[in-house]
Formats: sequence, structure tokens, C-alpha cells
Amino acid sequence: MNYRHAYHAGNFADVLKHAVLCWVVRYLQQKEAPLALIDTHAGPGFYDLEGLEAQKTAEAKDGIMRLAARTDAPAALAPYLETVRALNGEGPLRRYPGSPALFARMARPIDRVVACELHPEDGEALRASAAGNVRVVLGDGYRTLPSLIPPPEKRGVVLIDPPFEAPDEFEHLARSFIAAHRKWPTGVFVLWFPIKDRPAADRFAAELASAAIPKLTRMALDVDRTEGLGATGLVLCNAPFTLAAEWSELLAWLASVLAQGPNAKAAIEQLTRS
Ligand SMILES: C[S@@+](CC[C@H](N)C(=O)[O-])C[C@H]1O[C@@H](n2cnc3c(N)ncnc32)[C@H](O)[C@@H]1O
Repeated sequence: MNYRHAYHAGNFADVLKHAVLCWVVRYLQQKEAPLALIDTHAGPGFYDLEGLEAQKTAEAKDGIMRLAARTDAPAALAPYLETVRALNGEGPLRRYPGSPALFARMARPIDRVVACELHPEDGEALRASAAGNVRVVLGDGYRTLPSLIPPPEKRGVVLIDPPFEAPDEFEHLARSFIAAHRKWPTGVFVLWFPIKDRPAADRFAAELASAAIPKLTRMALDVDRTEGLGATGLVLCNAPFTLAAEWSELLAWLASVLAQGPNAKAAIEQLTRS
């Protein structure tokens, strides 16, 4: 386990994942009923954008920093941008909230957050920084997930955001999600993946679609970066029905704001319907 998210916090892939996640949570919070917000691969929670790791790659500069500098961000990004800004106050962004911190900061008193992290150091950091409404599980999120669903709240979101260090991570992610969906077919699931090997990402989408799981949507963002990760995707299951309408143009806008080359692009497609 060498992966440390501190090197990548706030990069373009985080921007897509976290903006969509916050939008989904805000959408679900339109109803008063409580939510379970479950994060299987949580990371340490908060990131120091001026710390050694973040400075070494400077990935946030071409991610959240670009977005935060805009005054014309579409309204659907407000839940994400407001949460990031609330952590930093006025002035430059110094701290970045990872997914468990975004969940915790968006959660209402009736909502519940569960965050799993396997890396001992990141797990301890997560435990130390977690707000009172977060239950931290130090352990394997894939193994823990079946015990967390269906949650007593019956409504909620599961983020599965693995590090993709293992060569079979796509298979692991697909198996884990398909089993979780069987236990909780009405949960909202958000699966993150890198697009380094496009055929592998397409096989992953095809495998999910062929598992007869309805209401699957795929989103992709390619910033046309030549070094390191240049494209990322999400698969959502049971996303709010307004997702495609609200995000089609917004994704194109994000691609233009986060572009690192002339061929930046984004797409949203329905993999399966209801
Ligand atoms: C991509 S990072 C998570 C980033 C975080 N979800 C966010 O969006 O801010 C993946 C994290 O999963 C952790 N991890 C790796 N394998 C795991 C497993 N089987 N269960 C739980 N956590 C795991 C890594 O240590 C790393 O912190």
C-alpha cells in the first residue's frame, strides 16, 4: 500500500468526484428523511495544500485552485465550492476536504457518516480529524461494506474510491459493487476510476451494464494531460434523475476550465435505464 492521496488532493479527478458527490448529497437532502453517507476508501480526511506532498505534484493548482478562482461557476457546483470555501474562510485555499470531510461537513444532525480506511497512518489521521458525526472504521472498506448496508436510514450514498494500485482493481470494484447493489438495490452508489487504459475502463462499464443493474450512468472527464493521470470517470447508480440534464453542459464547462491540452473533453452517458 504505497498510495497516498495527499499527493493528488484537489486535482481535476477530485474536482469531478467531489463536485458530483456534494451535488448528490444536497439533492438527497431536499427530503427530510435521514441519510447514511458511506465512504469505503476514505483517506485521511483533510489535506494541507501547502504541505510537502501537495507541493511536490502541485496537482491542486490545475484542479480546485482553477475552479475556486472562477466567479462564473454554475450553481450545481455550489454545494462543493461552498464546503471547500467554508473550510478556508477568505483568502487562498490552504486546506482541502477529502470525501469523508465533505460528507461530514454536509451532513445534517440526522445524517450519519461511516468512513473506512485501511492505511494505518491515513486511518489514524482520519480518526484524529473526524468530526463527531463520523464513525471511522480502520480496515478494509470492501470487506466492511456488506455489514453497513442496507443502512437503517434506508436512504443514502456509498462512495467506492479505491487507489487502483492493484492490477485487478476494476474487477474488485465491479464485484464489490454488484454484491452491494444486490444487498441494497435502492442505494445511491458512486464509483470512481482512473482512465489510463481506456479498453479496461470500457470493459468495466460493460461488465456493470451486463449485470442487469438498472439506472447506471457513466461520467468521464479528460483534461488532455500528457504526464500522469489525464482522464477520470465515475459510474453512478440510482443517481438523481436530473443528473444528465444538470451535468451535460456543466461537464463541458469543467473540461474547458480544467483543460491542460487542446483536446480536453467530457461526456455523460446512460449505461442502463430503469
Ligand atoms: C483515492 S484514495 C481516497 C480518497 C478519498 N476517497 C477522497 O475522495 O478524498 C484511496 C484510499 O483508499 C485507501 N485504501 C486502499 N485500500 C483500501 C481498502 N481495501 N479499504 C479501505 N481503504 C483502502 C488508501 O490508503 C487511500 O487512502
